[in-house]
Amino acid sequence: MRTGAAERLEPAQELIKVEGLNKTYVSRSKSFVALKEIDLSIPGNQFLSILGPSGCGKSTLLRILAGLEEATGGLAAVDGEEIVGPGADRGMVFQGYTLFPWLTVRQNIEYGPKLKGLPIFERRRISDHYLKLIRLERFANAFPKELSGGMKQRVAIARALANNPKVLLMDEPFGALDAQTKLEMQEMLLNVWVEEKTTVVFITHDIDEAIFLSQRVLVMGANPGRIIGDFVVNLPEGRTQEIKEDPDFLQLKRTLASMLKH
Ligand SMILES: Nc1ncnc2c1ncn2[C@@H]1O[C@H](COP(=O)(O)OP(=O)(O)OP(=O)(O)O)[C@@H](O)[C@H]1O
Ligand SMILES: [Mg+2]
Repeated sequence: MRTGAAERLEPAQELIKVEGLNKTYVSRSKSFVALKEIDLSIPGNQFLSILGPSGCGKSTLLRILAGLEEATGGLAAVDGEEIVGPGADRGMVFQGYTLFPWLTVRQNIEYGPKLKGLPIFERRRISDHYLKLIRLERFANAFPKELSGGMKQRVAIARALANNPKVLLMDEPFGALDAQTKLEMQEMLLNVWVEEKTTVVFITHDIDEAIFLSQRVLVMGANPGRIIGDFVVNLPEGRTQEIKEDPDFLQLKRTLASMLKH
């Protein structure tokens, strides 16, 4: 696997560990097994995507990693620490726009650093860096309602990264965007990842998107939610849209599509 990621962490150093994870929802005397015996090890700096049919437990798994939901059994840990609740070490980006509408773009990005008590010059340095990375310098003082959907999602990514999280957890972040904006967002996110090498767990329904962005793609199956495939994406870094014509890309796409069909 080409990682090019060794600068920040030892390439194979495990960052996320999930072992025998189970989640059963119980409502009105009925119980539903959403996740069954999930085992997963994610090394630092890896961009991992998760594909799977609706209802197979992708969001449940991500919410457990975020600490927003409790597992029924098993273990989930980040950097050797068991997950017991939300934390600044894990940034989240969802499909809906979750910016604070009363804050400007810059203030949204500086929100986490401000909570941490960083001095203003340090906060400014961080927001300048991320405004540049998401190419929204000119909108620093705009409010969320003045932005397009794609721009809002860029700010949401910047805001998550401004906390310098160990992991970025993304649940269909581009699912609500039009096709063209989605492609632009994918390229932007890839650039961000190449620069920051943050470990990313990215949920999507879009096979092209999963392969294009990732170093590794997991496939989940439903009833009960479990991992049924784990693929290394053997494509070089510095990817552009043309890579979608690469024989290795197309081969993996066929494999994933047939796996998702069954
Ligand atoms: N709070 C809850 N109470 C009961 N069942 C739930 C709850 N949350 C999720 N479920 C069930 O758990 C299963 C997994 O849900 P989850 O949201 O993780 O699926 P998903 O893979 O993210 O689906 P989608 O692709 O549609 O977003 C679903 O069958 C869902 O009905
Ligand atoms: Mg979901």
